[in-house]
Amino acid sequence: MSTATKLSEFARDTLTGLTAKQKFLHPKYFYDDNGSRIFQKIMRMPEYYLTDSELEIFSDQTNEISKAIAENNDFFDIIELGPGDGLKSGILLKSMIESKFDFTYIPVDISRQALHGLVKKLSAELPELPVHEAAGDYFHVMHDLRQRNGKPKVILFLGSNIGNFTEKERIDFLQQLSNITAPGDKLLLGADLKKPPEVIINAYDDPHGYTRDFNLNHLTRINRELDADFQTDNFVHHASYDPMSGAAKSYLVSKKPQKVNLGVTGTEIPFRQWESIFMELSQKFDPDDLEKMAMEAGFILKKNFTDRKNYFADSLWERK
Ligand code: AVJ
Repeated sequence: MSTATKLSEFARDTLTGLTAKQKFLHPKYFYDDNGSRIFQKIMRMPEYYLTDSELEIFSDQTNEISKAIAENNDFFDIIELGPGDGLKSGILLKSMIESKFDFTYIPVDISRQALHGLVKKLSAELPELPVHEAAGDYFHVMHDLRQRNGKPKVILFLGSNIGNFTEKERIDFLQQLSNITAPGDKLLLGADLKKPPEVIINAYDDPHGYTRDFNLNHLTRINRELDADFQTDNFVHHASYDPMSGAAKSYLVSKKPQKVNLGVTGTEIPFRQWESIFMELSQKFDPDDLEKMAMEAGFILKKNFTDRKNYFADSLWERK
């Protein structure tokens, strides 16, 4: 392929990651159709406690959460970033409809197809729910929404999706949320908490091998979409957790010296034996971290809603 040909963002990001001194790939590319299917399996396995913990919070504290969200606002938009299957938010939305709150639900997702599926499901379950689909990149959509109306906003960012960001990305992201919100607006942030290390390791190195498959699928996607020739058998999955920093990380480690051809970029990627690719950060927080993050981004932490085991927090912030 000629170097003049414009590479896709996926190709460019992959090339950057695999030619870095410490190889890495971007977690946002996990989710092709197959990756999304494997992620559904991860979310349903008991070892992946995050799903059950957050669902418990939404089920057991529905009214408290919905009251706290609607506090001081007669009408508002609920903007959910990356709604997934909408299971958790659906519980909240149902309760808010029953309480006759005046709001519109705006799910934001990069995948138009995923959005359609979600909205179809929600409108079957909650026919009275006013929904406005917003397909696209989080920040473009959010920016447009700010221009469109001056309604108070409640932003939902659940599931500890924030855990995938590096510290710098996290600070930038929260700062941008701060920029597009107004005083009194709210953010409900799902954050996985520090807990016994073996619980975390079991969630990211599961006995079913789903997390391994999830990681290897990233290589398969690169093979298919970027015309590469990764041999997935030549890599092992490794998960680690550092209880000091709260960083859970996953890697694919090369079992042997090998070369991988990244076809679409015309680049050959050499691997030394036992060299690794850093695949994903799943950051764990403690309540002090959350308080500090809120403050630094211009929010006040109003309340942490937690499950009985204290494994997970849905942290409610208000913009100052
Ligand atoms: C979707 C980013 C919250 O980090 O726990 C699950 C993704 N990766 N198992 C997480 C994931 C491996 C998940 N997040």
